[in-house]
Amino acid sequence: MVTRVATVAFQGVSAIPVDVQVQIAPGLPKFLIVGLPDKAVKESSERVHAALYASGLSLPPKRITINLAPADLPKEGSHYDLPIALALMAAIGAIPSDSLARHVALGELGLDGRLAPTAGILPAAIAAQAESMGIVCAKDAGPEAAWAGDEIDIIAADSLVQLANHFAGRQLCARPEARRRADGEPLPDLADIRGQEFARRALEIAAAGGHNLLMVGPPGAGKSMLAARLPSILPPLSARELLDVSMVQSVAGELQGGALSDRRPFRSPHHSASMAALVGGGIKVRPGEISLAHNGVLFLDELPEFSPAVLDSLRQPLESGEVQIARANGRVTFPARFQLIAAMNPCKCGMAGTPGHTCKRGEACAADYQGRVSGPFLDRVDLRVNVASVSAADMISPGQSEPSAQVAERVHAARERQRERFAAAGHPEISTNAAAGSTLIEQLVAPDAASRDLLYKAAEKFHLSARAYHRVLKVSRTIADLAASASVERHHVAEALGFRVSLSAS
Ligand SMILES: Nc1ncnc2c1ncn2[C@@H]1O[C@H](COP(=O)(O)OP(=O)(O)OP(=O)(O)O)[C@@H](O)[C@H]1O
Ligand SMILES: [Mg+2]
Repeated sequence: MVTRVATVAFQGVSAIPVDVQVQIAPGLPKFLIVGLPDKAVKESSERVHAALYASGLSLPPKRITINLAPADLPKEGSHYDLPIALALMAAIGAIPSDSLARHVALGELGLDGRLAPTAGILPAAIAAQAESMGIVCAKDAGPEAAWAGDEIDIIAADSLVQLANHFAGRQLCARPEARRRADGEPLPDLADIRGQEFARRALEIAAAGGHNLLMVGPPGAGKSMLAARLPSILPPLSARELLDVSMVQSVAGELQGGALSDRRPFRSPHHSASMAALVGGGIKVRPGEISLAHNGVLFLDELPEFSPAVLDSLRQPLESGEVQIARANGRVTFPARFQLIAAMNPCKCGMAGTPGHTCKRGEACAADYQGRVSGPFLDRVDLRVNVASVSAADMISPGQSEPSAQVAERVHAARERQRERFAAAGHPEISTNAAAGSTLIEQLVAPDAASRDLLYKAAEKFHLSARAYHRVLKVSRTIADLAASASVERHHVAEALGFRVSLSAS
C-alpha cells in the first residue's frame, strides 16, 4: 500500500505541489528517496529515522521507498523532512492515514523529533489555501502561515509527538494568530539634515513617484545620510504589497518569528556584492537584494565601486520589474520592482567640480571614475542631483530643517492621487508614476503646447533618449501631483528636466 502526503517545491516565489509517496514492501531493509532529491533531501532519511526513534516509533526492517512526485522536478531544501515523516507514520499506523488528505506539510526535523521552521511557509500556505487545503508546519512558522487567511486550517506543532496527539484527538494544537512585527527602532529623520534643499526636494519627488535617484557629491556632503532618511517619508506597504514583499522574504528565510512588517524594504548591499547576491542565484536559488527590495528601495552607496558587470545586470530588472535567473534545469522568476537610490563621489579623490579645487590627477580622474557606470545604466536614473558640501553657515545656523513627518504627508497625498488616477484608468495594480508603462503615461500626461515645446527643445539639446523622454514625463506628473495640480504644466516639466540633465549640463 502507498501512503501519500502533500507538500510543495519552490520555483521563485511560487509553490508547486509535490506528492510524497511512501511504500513499505517486503525485502532487504533499505531506505530509498527518489524523485531528484538534492543533498539536503537525501540527508533527510537520517533525520527522519532519528526523529521517529526519539518519538518512540521504529520503522519495520523492510524495503522503504519514498517517491517525490513529479519525479522530474528537482527537490531542494530540508522542508521535506516533515511530509516524509508523516507519510511514514501513516504507513506504520501511528496516525490515521486519512487525516492528512487535505493538508500540505512542510518543516525540518531535529534528531529529537522537534520541528524547526523552514523558508517559504507563506507562499506554501497561500498555495494550500487556493486549493482549499490546510497546512501542517512548525509552531514557530504558524504565525507566518496565518497570513494566508482566516479560513485556512493550520496545524502548527512543536514536535512529531504533538502532531501524533493532535491527529489522535488527544491534544489539539491551537490555531496561531497572524503577527505584525513591532516597528522597532524609530527611523532616522530628515530634520537632522542641514541645508541641501535641492537634494531634499529630489528625495521628496523620488519618494512621491517611486523614481530612481542618483546623488553625486564630495565626501561628507550628506548623501548616505539623505538616503538613509528616505524610508521615513515613504508610505507604508498596502495589504497586497505586504504579501508580495513577505513572499520574497519568506522564500529567502528572512521573516523573523513569522511576523510581517508594513515598512517598505530598504536594502543597502555593500559594493563588494557579487552578481548572485544582487540579482539572485546560487546553487539553491535565493532571491537577491533586488528582489528583497521589491516594492521598496535598493540603495547603492559608492556606485562606481560596484563591479560594472554587476551594475549592468540590473538594467533588465530596472525596466521589467522582475528578474529571470536561468538555471541548468529551468528558469526562475522573482519580482524585482524596486526604487534605485544611488550615491557617488564625482571622482576617485572625491572633490571634482568643487570650486577652488584642482584634482591632482587632472580631468582623467573624474572621467575614469564616472566611466565605471555605463551610459545605459545612467539612462535609467530619473533624477540626478549634485549634492555640494554643506556650507558652514548652514551647519551652525540654529534653525531646524523640516521633519520627515511633514514631508511624508505630502508624499502620501501625492501617492494617493496617483493611485486614484491609475485605478480610474483601469490599472488598479499600478500605484506609482514610475511603475506605469510608456503608453499609459503618454495617455495620462498630455503636455500642453508650452510644455511640449520645452520638451522638444530639451530633447534636441541634451540628446534625450525615448526612454529619457518618458521618464521626464513621469517625473513631471509626480511634481504636479506633489503640487496637487490636475494638469502637468510647463514649470513642472522644467523642474523634471532640470533634475534629468543637471549632471550632463555641469
Ligand atoms: N547636510 C548635513 N547636515 C548635517 N550633518 C551632515 C550633513 N552632511 C554631512 N553631515 C555629517 O557628515 C557625516 C557624513 O555624512 P555622509 O556619510 O552622509 O556623507 P557622504 O556624502 O555619504 O560622504 P561619502 O561620499 O564619503 O560617502 C554625517 O554622519 C553627518 O554627521
Ligand atoms: Mg556616503
